[in-house]
Parts: sequence; C-alpha cells; structure tokens
Amino acid sequence: MKTTISHIKADIGSLPGHTTVYAPVEDEVRKYVKNNSAGLVTDFYVTHIGDDIQITMAHEKGIDNPEIHGLAWEAFKAGTALAKKVGLYGAGQDLLKDAFSGNIKGMGPGVAEMEITPRKSEPFIIYMMDKTEPGAFNFPIFKMFADPFNTPGLVIDPNMHEGFRFEIWDVVDGKKIELSSPDQMYDILAMIGSKSRYVVKRVYTKETHEKLPDENVAVVTTDKLSLIAGEYVGKDDPAAIVRIQSGLPASGESLEAFSHPFLVSGWMRGSFNGPLMPVGINGSKMTRFDGPPRVAALGFVLKDGKLAGPVDLFDDVAFDGARKTALEMTDHLRRMGPFEPHRLPESDMEYTTLPKVLNSLADKFSPIENHEKKHKLKESVRDMD
Ligand code: 13P
Ligand code: 13P
Ligand code: MG
Ligand code: MG
Repeated sequence: MKTTISHIKADIGSLPGHTTVYAPVEDEVRKYVKNNSAGLVTDFYVTHIGDDIQITMAHEKGIDNPEIHGLAWEAFKAGTALAKKVGLYGAGQDLLKDAFSGNIKGMGPGVAEMEITPRKSEPFIIYMMDKTEPGAFNFPIFKMFADPFNTPGLVIDPNMHEGFRFEIWDVVDGKKIELSSPDQMYDILAMIGSKSRYVVKRVYTKETHEKLPDENVAVVTTDKLSLIAGEYVGKDDPAAIVRIQSGLPASGESLEAFSHPFLVSGWMRGSFNGPLMPVGINGSKMTRFDGPPRVAALGFVLKDGKLAGPVDLFDDVAFDGARKTALEMTDHLRRMGPFEPHRLPESDMEYTTLPKVLNSLADKFSPIENHEKKHKLKESVRDMD
C-alpha cells in the first residue's frame, strides 16, 4: 500500500531575534497536531531547527491533500496565537495569508512530500536547514545521488549503477525539466550551480532499478518566500526528505555530502554567503551574525505507517571537523563586512531592504563624462570579433 511522507515547516516567531524557537510555541504546535490528527495521520513528529518549526507526518492521503495541509496550517496558527501573546519576534512570519484555501503551497510554509511504496524496511532522513534557501540543497543532493566520489554505491552497487533522474525547477520562470544522471550530468550541473534560480525539486530512480523502479526518493521544499511576498520576509529556510539504503545512497553516503562545509546564501538579513554547518538539533541556536547557516538531519524508519526514531545524526563527533571548518570559514568571511562575495550580489539583494537605501540616492547622481562614448567603443570592438 502507498504511504505519503509530508514535511511542512514554518517560522512563526522566534526568540530573541531570529535565533531559535520558543519551546512553549513548539509544544503548542505539537499539541495541536496530536489532538487533531486522529484518523488523518498514522504518525507524526514535531521538531525545529533555529527559528523554524518542522512537522513530519506519515499518512495514506497522498500529496497535496487539503486535510493534511489544513492540519499543518491550523497547527501553525495555534502556535502563532501563543507567539503573538508572548510577543515573539516575527510572530506569524511565514503565514502570509489569512484564510486557508485547500493547499498550503504559496501561503508561506515550506512543503516537501512524497508518495512512496514502502520497502520491507523504509529508512529515510529529514534534512532541515536554517538561514538559507532551497538551492542550498542542490550541492548535497547532487553529491548523494550523482557523485561517485561521495557515494561509492554508484560504482559498486548494481542497483545504483544506472544512476538517477533529477527534476529541476526554474523558480524564477516557473518551469521544470527532468534530466538523467550520469548521462546528462553536465547539463544538470550547468543549471544547478545557479542555485538561486534552479533548484533540485525531486530525485527518482530509473525504470531499470531492480528493487525500486520509478520511485521518488528525494524531495526538497522549493517555496521562495521572497517571490511569494514580493519583499524580504525572511529567507525560505528549506527542508528535504531523502530515502536511503537498499539501492539508494546509504545513510553514511547521504550524510557524507555535508562533511565539507560549502557556501550557501542567506545568513544575516538573508543577504550573505556563509558556510553550512552540520549540527545536532540542540546545536541549532542561530547566534553569530544570526548563524552561521545550519543543517540538521533526523533519521527515521517507517513501518505500517508508524515512525521509529529519530536519530539526531549530526550530533556526533564525526562532524566535529566539519563544524570546525565552518567556524574557520565564518571568521574568514566576516572580515569582509558588507562586501561581495560575502554579501550577496546585487541581483540577489533585490528583495531585501537595500534597494530602498539605493533609491534614496537615485536623484543625487550626475552623468560621468564620455561614459557613453566608451560604451559605444566597447560595442564596436565586439562587432569586429
Ligand atoms: P528588522 O528590521 O525586522 O529588525 O530586520 C532585521 C532582521 O532581523 C533581519 O535579520
Ligand atoms: P529567518 O529566515 O530564519 O527568519 O532569518 C531571517 C533573518 O533575516 C536572519 O538575519
Ligand atoms: Mg525568523
Ligand atoms: Mg529560519
């Protein structure tokens, strides 16, 4: 029988700035789901990373189900009521609309869902990031499912040897494309390196996969709050569901993708590049410069609709080295202050408050002499090529 795993997350207020959730608010969300999920979900788990509350649900209602989305929406509303009462910062930040209309997509919270045919043992990992954007998953998901130097199973395991299919979304133009690895690996990379525009939405096995043909094995939240709200309302801190083992990347192959901190955009005011630091849930207080950006990983197994776990996977000395490297990168980058490439390029600052500052200077500019002439010269040189 098919089972659906739905992961829905939102920032509904934090303490004191964008540092972390307030435990009683997280409890309120948990209590709402517990009291209202009978007959709807077969199991659930509520947690957080930084200032984002995360709800994982197992059920049989398929993806985009209004009752499941409505349950998460109402749970976040219940938490928001308490967040407002105690005066949390940014209370209700990610709940952009007032009335729920059947699908939580486009309303602010991030959604990752997959309908699966559960295996005898169905292990999976929920990855949750704070102070970054959905494109931050491009690099690690590529490494897990397409890079043999990260995932030797791609070389050694006959079930993985054919590779995987990647569904990539252009979140700016609202288009999607499906590409196959390893044969179209360079095309995949040509896109997903531009991580603020192209995001890996899903990964599928191929039809030839002996154990699990044509199955969705990874899914990432791709909600871009800035594009929904039209102005900066917090970065769209993403989450992902990744199935593991038995013809898929092993648990350790999946986690290995986070062993060398890489740069992601977000951090302070959603405006800076910073290293992604793998941490246990208890290590996810966003302090220094509201970060550095973090990722946590919770491991579950699913059986007959019930979840066993989770195991807090980055809460381990094996990731101390990655944390140390991330902190060294933090020291290094912070010395650049408001300069690129620590600060994001101008195109990515469009939805922040920077354009307001630049606009206030607009009528104080005067033309640079001969500038147009130089520009024309450049064009004529190009014409000669
Ligand atoms: P405020 O103007 O809401 O204080 O925004 C600053 C901030 O917290 C972004 O990190
Ligand atoms: P969040 O997206 O986690 O709310 O952070 C916003 C921010 O501006 C941090 O500086
Ligand atoms: Mg916040
Ligand atoms: Mg956040």
